[in-house]
Amino acid sequence: MTRLAIVGAMHEEIAALRPCLAGLRTERRAGRDFHFGGLDGHDVILVRCGIGKVAAAITTAVLLDAYDASALLFTGVAGGLGDGVRVGDIVVATTLLQHDMNAEPLFPRWEVPLTGRARFDADPAWSARLARAGHALAATNAHARAATLHQGLVVSGDRFVATHAESDQLLAVLPDALAVEMEGAAVAQVCHDFARPFAVVRTISDRADDAAHGDFQRFVRDVAAPYSRDVVRAALAA
Ligand code: ADE
Repeated sequence: MTRLAIVGAMHEEIAALRPCLAGLRTERRAGRDFHFGGLDGHDVILVRCGIGKVAAAITTAVLLDAYDASALLFTGVAGGLGDGVRVGDIVVATTLLQHDMNAEPLFPRWEVPLTGRARFDADPAWSARLARAGHALAATNAHARAATLHQGLVVSGDRFVATHAESDQLLAVLPDALAVEMEGAAVAQVCHDFARPFAVVRTISDRADDAAHGDFQRFVRDVAAPYSRDVVRAALAA
C-alpha cells in the first residue's frame, strides 16, 4: 500500500491535522513523534520535523527509509520574497534551492557538491494537486480571503530572514525566488537521493523584512494550523 508522509517544521503547522487522522497510532524515533493513521482515503504518516535543513533531512530519511513513505508533502509557512507575494498568499514550489549552499570555487554557487545540481524539482502531479487546492482555498476560505496562489522557486537556508537588507540581497542574486524558508530544499535533496516524489506548499507569514518576526509569530499563532490542514486535506481529496 502507498504511504503518504505529511511533514511540517513546527507544532502549529501540523497540529490541526492530527485530530483528523483515523485510527491514530504514534511511534517515537530519532526524537520525533511519527503519527500514523488514515486521512481522506490515504494511509498517512504525520510528523513535526523541527526547524532547519538538518532536522528536515533527518526526518525525511527516516520517513523514506525506515517507514517506506512513497511520497512526501511538506506544509508550513514561509517569508515572501517575490514581488506581489503577500502575507496570506500560498506558494507551491516547482523547484527548490539551498540559498546558503556555497562551495565556491570548488563548485558553482548553490550547487550541492557532487550532485551536479543546485535546484531540485518537486513532483508535478502532487504540486498540481496542492496548487488546485491552494487556489480554491484562496478564493473561498475565510482565513485566506483575497489571497493569491504562486508557483515557482522556493529557497531554503538555516537562517530566519528578518531584515530588508537580507531579503533584498537574496532577491538580487536569485531574482526568481518567490519565498524563503528553512527546510524545503533539504527535503528535496533527500527525496531526490531516494527517488521519491515530494511537494512543498507554504503560506506566507511575513515578508522576510524588518517586521518579519512579529508578523511570523502572529500568523503562526492565529492561522498557520487551519491553513495547513485545509490545503493538505483538499489536495488529498482531489
Ligand atoms: N519561515 C517563515 N518566515 C521565514 C523567514 N522570514 N525566513 C526564513 N524562514 C521563514
